[in-house]
Amino acid sequence: MDAATAWAEAMKFSNRPNPYPYYEELRKTPVAKVSDHTYVVTGYPEALALAHDPRISSDISRSPSGLFGEKQAAIDAAQLDVAEAAQARDWSMLVADPPEHDTMRRQFMRHFGPPHAPDLIPSMEAMVIELANDLLDKVKARGGTRMDVVEDFSYPIPVSVIFRVMGAPIADEPKFHGWVMDFMQGADVGPEADTEEGRAATAKAAASMNELGVWVHELVDRLSREPGPGLLSAALHDDGPDGPVSKTVAEANALLLMIAGHDSTVNTISNCIMTMLRSPGSWDLVAGNRDLIPRTVEEVQRLQGSVQFFPSRWATADIEIAGTRIPAGSAVFLVWAAANRDPRRFPFPDRFDPMREDNEHLGFGSGIHTCFGGPLARLEINAALEVFLRRVKAPRLVVDPPPYRHNQVFRGPRHLWVDFAEIL
Ligand code: HEM
Repeated sequence: MDAATAWAEAMKFSNRPNPYPYYEELRKTPVAKVSDHTYVVTGYPEALALAHDPRISSDISRSPSGLFGEKQAAIDAAQLDVAEAAQARDWSMLVADPPEHDTMRRQFMRHFGPPHAPDLIPSMEAMVIELANDLLDKVKARGGTRMDVVEDFSYPIPVSVIFRVMGAPIADEPKFHGWVMDFMQGADVGPEADTEEGRAATAKAAASMNELGVWVHELVDRLSREPGPGLLSAALHDDGPDGPVSKTVAEANALLLMIAGHDSTVNTISNCIMTMLRSPGSWDLVAGNRDLIPRTVEEVQRLQGSVQFFPSRWATADIEIAGTRIPAGSAVFLVWAAANRDPRRFPFPDRFDPMREDNEHLGFGSGIHTCFGGPLARLEINAALEVFLRRVKAPRLVVDPPPYRHNQVFRGPRHLWVDFAEIL
C-alpha cells in the first residue's frame, strides 16, 4: 500500500475505530509524502524533532494545507450576516508562531497555573468528585443496568469544569454542546469531505461555528465591560507585564480554550474506561489498586490519543529528515497518535500495559504548543476514574468497537454502552 492510500484509509470514517494499522503502514516511511503539498510524520523521533524545529510554523493563516483555508472560506461565507463578529475574530495561540504565540500563552497561563494562580487547578478536584458522584447517582436512580458512559458520565464533567474555569454561564451549555458537535462532525480532513453528505456537514459546521462565534463575542464583550470571576475576565483586565488581552485575542483563545478545554478530556475518560474493559484482568487490577490510575491514564493517552494530530503546521524552509526532503511551503502533519505506537520508542506498542515504565508519550503534543491544559485534564480524568472504579461494579462493554464520532483529529467514541451489576 502506498503512503497516500494508507493516509486516505486512516482518515476514512469506516476506519475510525482503528486507524492504527494504517499508521503502521505509513511508519515504514516515518516522514511520508501523501499529496502534492502534504507530508505526514508517524515516527516518534521525527515527530519530536519537528515539533521543536523552528523551521516548522504553526501559523495557519499561511499554511498551504488548504484544509483550514477551505474550511475558513466556508465559514466566512456563512458568516456574512454577522460580518462584524467574524472580522473581530483572530487566530488563537494554537495556530500562531512566536512572538505572538508566546505572548498569548503567557497572558492566559498567568491566570491558570503557578506561580500566579497556583490554586485554580487543585480547586477543581472537589467539583469533579462531586459531579462524578452526582452523575452515577442519577444513573442509579434511573434504574436498569446499562449506561452510556459518554453521555451519562464523561461529557458532563469536563464541560462543567471549563465553563467554571472560564467564567462562562453554564445555562448556555446545551446550545454550546450542539454547536461543538456540529463543528466536530463537519471538520473533516478525510476523503468523505468531498461527498454530498460531507459538504452538508461542512455547511452545518460553518453555521454552528458562526453562532458559537457570536456567543463568544458577546461573552467577551460583556466581561470586558463587567468583570466577573474566571480566566477570561482576568485576562481581559490584567495588569501584568504583558498587559490585558485585546478583545479579538480574548475571543480567539476563549473559543480554543472552551473547545480544547473539554472535548479531549471527555474522549480520554471514555477511552480509559473502554481500554480497561477491553483488556481482560486490567479492570480488576486497577480497581483493586487505585494507585495505578495515573499510569493507566498515561498509557491510554499513548494508546488512544484524543488529539491524533493537528493539521496546522508547515515548513518554512526545505527540511531533510529520515531520508525524506520536505520542500519549503509543504504542510507537515505531526501524527502524535502514530508516533505513540512507534516500536523504536515503545516496546510492544499496541499492548495496553498499565504498569508501563518510561512512558513519555506525545498525547499532549511537544514543543512550544504542548497542551496548555494538561495538568487540569490529568486531574479531571484521574478523579473521575477513581469514582467510577470505586462505584461501578462488574462493568462490561456492550458493543465493541463502539460507534465513533466523525472527526479524525479529535477522535473518540460517540457512545460507550456499558452494562454493570450494580452502582454502589
Ligand atoms: C486529555 C485531554 C487533552 C488532550 C489529549 C489534549 C491534547 C492537546 C495536544 C496534543 C495539543 C497540541 C496540539 C499540537 O501542537 O499539535 C494541545 C494544545 C492545547 N491544549 Fe490540550 N489537550 C487536552 C486537554 C486540554 C484542556 C483541559 C485545555 C484547557 C483547559 C487544553 C487547552 C489547550 C490549548 C490552549 C492548547 C494550545 C497550546 C499552544 O498552542 O501553546 N487542552 N492539547
